[in-house]
Amino acid sequence: MKFVFLAIAFGASLLVSAQQKTPVYLDVTKPIEERVENALSQMTIEEKVSLCHAQSKFSSKGVPRLGIPEVWTDDGPHGIREEVFWDEWDGAHWTNDSCTAFPALTCLAATFNPELSLLYGKSIGEEARYRNKTVLLGPGVNIYRTPLNGRNFEYLGEDPFLSSQMVVPYIQGVQSMGVAACVKHFALNNQEEWRGHINVNVSDRALYEIYLPAFKAAVQEGKVWAIMGSYNQLRGEHCCHNDLLLNKILKNEWKFDGVVISDWGGVHSTDQAVKNGLDLEMGTYTNGLTSKGTFPYSEYYLANPFLKGIKEGKYDVALLNDKVRRILRIIFRTTMSSNRPFGRFVSPEHSEVARKIAEEGIVLLKNDKQFFPIPAGKYNKIAVIGENATRSLVIGGGSSSLKVAYEASPLQILTAKYGKEHIVYSLGYASGAAVYGREENSKLNADSLINKAFDIAKNADVVLFIGGLNKNHFQDCEGGDRHSLDLPFGQDKLIDALLKANKNTAVILASGNAVAMPWIDRVPAIVQSWYTGSEAGNALANVLSGEVNPSGKLPFSFPKKLEDNAAASFGKLAYPGDSINEYYKEDILVGYRWFDTKNIAPLFPFGYGLSYTTFAYSKPTVDMTETTAEGTVKVSFTLTNSGKTDGAETAQLYVSKPKSAVTRAAKELKAFRKVFLKAGESQTVMIDVPVNSFAYYNEGKHGWEVEPGSYTLLLGSSSRDIKGKVEVKVK
Ligand code: BGC
Repeated sequence: MKFVFLAIAFGASLLVSAQQKTPVYLDVTKPIEERVENALSQMTIEEKVSLCHAQSKFSSKGVPRLGIPEVWTDDGPHGIREEVFWDEWDGAHWTNDSCTAFPALTCLAATFNPELSLLYGKSIGEEARYRNKTVLLGPGVNIYRTPLNGRNFEYLGEDPFLSSQMVVPYIQGVQSMGVAACVKHFALNNQEEWRGHINVNVSDRALYEIYLPAFKAAVQEGKVWAIMGSYNQLRGEHCCHNDLLLNKILKNEWKFDGVVISDWGGVHSTDQAVKNGLDLEMGTYTNGLTSKGTFPYSEYYLANPFLKGIKEGKYDVALLNDKVRRILRIIFRTTMSSNRPFGRFVSPEHSEVARKIAEEGIVLLKNDKQFFPIPAGKYNKIAVIGENATRSLVIGGGSSSLKVAYEASPLQILTAKYGKEHIVYSLGYASGAAVYGREENSKLNADSLINKAFDIAKNADVVLFIGGLNKNHFQDCEGGDRHSLDLPFGQDKLIDALLKANKNTAVILASGNAVAMPWIDRVPAIVQSWYTGSEAGNALANVLSGEVNPSGKLPFSFPKKLEDNAAASFGKLAYPGDSINEYYKEDILVGYRWFDTKNIAPLFPFGYGLSYTTFAYSKPTVDMTETTAEGTVKVSFTLTNSGKTDGAETAQLYVSKPKSAVTRAAKELKAFRKVFLKAGESQTVMIDVPVNSFAYYNEGKHGWEVEPGSYTLLLGSSSRDIKGKVEVKVK
């Protein structure tokens, strides 16, 4: 009896001590790599494989036995997407997941303000953290190549330098909250048409100079923890398992140590997924699983087929271990990190950040005779016309669609600002509901909408037309491209009618893309107001009324006509391709690089945006006229707010190499600085430009090369408004 008692006591104490000893992987004081190795050493092959693929629409397994949590991903990139059912895309009708909608990334890019990007990242990171997400599926940095791309609104514009500068702080902000950012879509997902298979043929030079820099900055400067492969192919291999992109460039050249996540359903082969650098397979219904069967996750390419291959010795376990290490790393960096802050959701601070970004991103494109600002009390009757004055612009668009806590519409806030008795509203035109993958038309009669708007416009002092695109299929929306550069839903006809009724008609466009403006010479004022999320109405009303002086600059060029766009000018094979292949024939001459090199006048150039004040630039000077490839030149100038209103100007520094052994763009953006100045105030601005940024990508040598010789540094207020030049010789 005594012996039995002793034995039980001994056993129990063994159990207690086994429970008390913290394994290394759970010890948050230990370095992450040690924890990763320790966890890996305790996992079975089955457990390891189970980490490499989805278990539900947005999650993948942890290791329950070891207390390693699941990975929960969420779109991204403008707010925290609502919860969906386990294996359905439909919203799960939770009542605690209505988020703050931040402005679309095109608007963020238009602020030219990296500090706002950091605030954006921190705020959306806090929302993701509060909702207990591991990975935020964003930001997107695909380059704006054609104005028809349905997803341009989710990206940071046409310039690799601008998008690099803006993406880094966003990532740092998100990850400071213990949530992984997942930069997407790597790479060349520059159109939605045939996105699942189109094979992109692009030169190494265009790849390195135009399409990769923002991803590289995300990895090397932003230290991003995850990256999403894209749906399309590059040189005959799908980008979610593309040896060149994932193994050679991302993991070997750039030393990326995080997780490569597939785009949903972007995987097509176990063999390639295992060998070509993919780590985590997420899916809709993967290829071969296009109809919804019984729980398909175990049949994913990186599920049972992978396990079988490992067991049969077809795949080296080292390949599996590498994937698992990366997934464990992201878990230890986020959910199992000791210094993971707490989040918050729909806080007033987040609204303020959203509004501030919107206010700084809105671009004043035209403002004849100081049409704007319109302070309260200036006019007795203001006619507001257009669907986008009242329509939700956070719903639709595909995976970035949001269920929001609130969305202040322009009409609502303009009415509050100017007074109910001074505002009249008419719809003017109508589109259908935002249904994913299908075009829905409005059942309202277009002519009678125009007639009603005409009557209202005729009797008003001024007309504010608020239109543009929306998040419907074939507009600014995932899964399809626009069919033309024109404004949809009969808006051009409506604008013509409004101008006949009242020549004081201003046009305000919500969109993430350029549109054709056949009426441009006849309207006194134009505003590009993007998609600005929860605070849309407040930001717009503050700019229109003059409480905020606009300072946004275009992050992409507006062509006069579609054929002026580089990709469009080369015909169908260049865009959208022949359904199998596509050739980037414009090569490095994307966006303003094309317009400026070919001397084609854009409708509005890259970097352009007006203000309610004026700015004067002094002649720029440079601290040295001769330097080496390793040097940094300092360009100085004085910027003066020469008008009567406080405001901000983004000074831009472009580099040009007049004589070169290779094709060069007429100019390339290498630095910019946004400066806030009170009316009448001057400031000396100094901008550092590292000379190695003058390099071009030498395909033969597979590396960057700074050509010796003369360079011209162009200081401008846009890519087309150059205020001064300095010469620098590189030895
Ligand atoms: C999109 C991704 C998105 C994912 C999950 C895909 O269709 O391309 O950007 O993150 O769905 O919703």
